[in-house]
Amino acid sequence: MRVIETTAELMAARDGIAGSVGFVPTMGALHEGHLSLIRRAKEENGFVIVSIFVNPTQFLEGEDLDKYPRKIEADMQICKRAGVDILFMPTPGIMYERDELAVMAPATMGYILEGNRRPGHFDGMLQVVMKLLNLANPTAAYFGKKDAQQLALIMQMARTYFLRCRIVPCEIVRDGSGLALSSRNVYLSPEEKQRALSLSRSLKRATKMVMTGERSSQKIEAVMREILENETDIEYVEIVDRAFRPLEEVEIGNTIILVAAWVGTTRLIDNLWI
Ligand code: PAJ
Repeated sequence: MRVIETTAELMAARDGIAGSVGFVPTMGALHEGHLSLIRRAKEENGFVIVSIFVNPTQFLEGEDLDKYPRKIEADMQICKRAGVDILFMPTPGIMYERDELAVMAPATMGYILEGNRRPGHFDGMLQVVMKLLNLANPTAAYFGKKDAQQLALIMQMARTYFLRCRIVPCEIVRDGSGLALSSRNVYLSPEEKQRALSLSRSLKRATKMVMTGERSSQKIEAVMREILENETDIEYVEIVDRAFRPLEEVEIGNTIILVAAWVGTTRLIDNLWI
């Protein structure tokens, strides 16, 4: 595995690769969720590039940029073992210049749900993903459904800017107890982790309701809120279609149920695609 820190080196290395390239952008503190993306990239491509970059522009003032978990040594081992060919680890100084031209999230989609609670977050996220996609120039790039709105916006950006790479959505990986894996789970104490399980529990309950014929978003949301409210501070519970428009009735094959909630000082998100 080659570890690369500069953009020039990455572009030169990329130019030397024949055949398909799979790319997995991450912010590190790698877990099984990231690994599932890397494995899929490996299965579908002759060559795999992973990036680890804690992107400062997608963190808002007062968010956890400084304490975001950084585990470089462990991450390098994980990538090596997974058969990653190039690990790209730039610094902010290498990725950004002063007074930059910027990619902007769309006025509606960028500012609802996650974008409502974290205004500007998606601008920074899209900015760095655009840069990373141009640098790695992959055949296919792999993203988790865990960050459903992020995934939808990246697909839109690829469409808007006629990017050539395929954006591949990947399933959410959970631990044995149902908790969706996240680098931020390390912030949770054992007691908080128990409370955090209410997110996946509420989604499981929603699945059951849909499976037994319930279609009313209002009723499903109410039951989910009941499960969540004793254990967390709920930010939102929303039932939307795949274009993130609110749905009054669940439509099988076109629905995403989203939840965001605080457990102590940790903000968690989870979702379910129906
Ligand atoms: P990060 O949170 O490190 O996630 C990197 C990728 O892993 C994202 O596509 C995310 O959706 C996926 N992922 C995280 N947890 C997952 C899980 N439990 N199951 C499946 N996939 C999971 O998302 C980012 O970084 C950044 O915003 C980034 C796209 C790298 C831009 O900075």
